[in-house]
Amino acid sequence: MKSLGLVALAGLASQASAACTRAMLEEATSAYIKAQAAGDTKLLSLASNVSYLENDVSMPVSKSILSQPITIDFNRSLHDTTQCATFTELSAATNKIPMVINARMLFTDDKVTTIQTLVADAGDWVFNATAQLKWTKQESWPTIPSAKQDSRAVIQAAGDAYLTSWTKANVSVPYGTPCARLEGGMYTGDRSPTTNTCTMPLFPEPFTIGNRRYVIDEEVGGLSIFNDFPFIDKTKPNGTASGNFFRVEGGKIRYIHETTICVAKNCGR
Ligand SMILES: *[C@@H]1O[C@H](CO)[C@@H](O)[C@H](O)[C@H]1NC(C)=O
Ligand SMILES: *[C@@H]1O[C@H](CO)[C@@H](O)[C@H](O)[C@H]1NC(C)=O
Ligand SMILES: *[C@@H]1O[C@H](CO)[C@@H](O)[C@H](O)[C@H]1NC(C)=O
Ligand SMILES: *[C@@H]1O[C@H](CO)[C@@H](O)[C@H](O)[C@H]1NC(C)=O
Ligand SMILES: *[C@@H]1O[C@H](CO)[C@@H](O)[C@H](O)[C@H]1NC(C)=O
Repeated sequence: MKSLGLVALAGLASQASAACTRAMLEEATSAYIKAQAAGDTKLLSLASNVSYLENDVSMPVSKSILSQPITIDFNRSLHDTTQCATFTELSAATNKIPMVINARMLFTDDKVTTIQTLVADAGDWVFNATAQLKWTKQESWPTIPSAKQDSRAVIQAAGDAYLTSWTKANVSVPYGTPCARLEGGMYTGDRSPTTNTCTMPLFPEPFTIGNRRYVIDEEVGGLSIFNDFPFIDKTKPNGTASGNFFRVEGGKIRYIHETTICVAKNCGR
């Protein structure tokens, strides 16, 4: 009985992991990129009840950015086999309307059950797709040898500390040397490529960056945090749709990308 039980359990465990292998998630991000390039949602394996949120607004996938063909110049993805989730950043500088798109997808039984996107274009926070493309292409995000990979907890804590430190002077952030931030199209790394240029000053008033939604990929030290960022856009006191995308190496932040959506041009600033 006992050995039968173990065999049955082993079977279940392998089914569970087979439902969400890295290979399956890599196929899914590749399908997502093709779907967005073609503006054809049929290229994605969507669950019948898939939920879709674009810049924090709920809508049918058929009405979303995914229904429009976008010229994609560059892409980078994270694959989270623990949560069965992916993150993709698309740079679309040569698209008719230059854009940067962030997409977070969740899966059940190989089907996409949730898609959340940030679709940034002219007027969003320090937006410049040409500059974003130029700098992201120059960054190096190789696979980290397994013995040197950080745990999920370490990777997440680094990004959480960064966001919390904006309003809490007592939170120390594990910035690496070097560390560079690509905020919209504004790059800190060109000033001094071998030092840490990521440090954020304390904001002038308290707020909490909430609704943090994570995708973590230990293989590349990758972390995406979709979040609601208050303060920046006065018309969105509860937080504007924003995403921070990190590479963490040896527990320290190497790169940060920020994509923040604004109602008024440059969030009225
Ligand atoms: C969608 O359906 C699946 C089963 O097919 C279920 O597990 C999941 O909870 C449903 N999601 C929503 C948002 O209703
Ligand atoms: C996405 O990036 C991969 C390399 O990581 C590249 O092979 C592929 O062509 C890119 N896709 C698009 C549409 O740019
Ligand atoms: C956007 O960035 C590019 C490349 O750095 C630069 O040449 C261009 O002047 C910038 N555009 C604006 C509107 O700032
Ligand atoms: C930082 O200060 C806040 C109060 O402003 C406190 O709640 C928090 O525990 C402190 N965190 C650390 C890491 O000391
Ligand atoms: C912000 O949140 C509060 C509390 O949930 C709510 O009463 C208020 O309407 C929200 N404001 C906006 C502009 O969404």
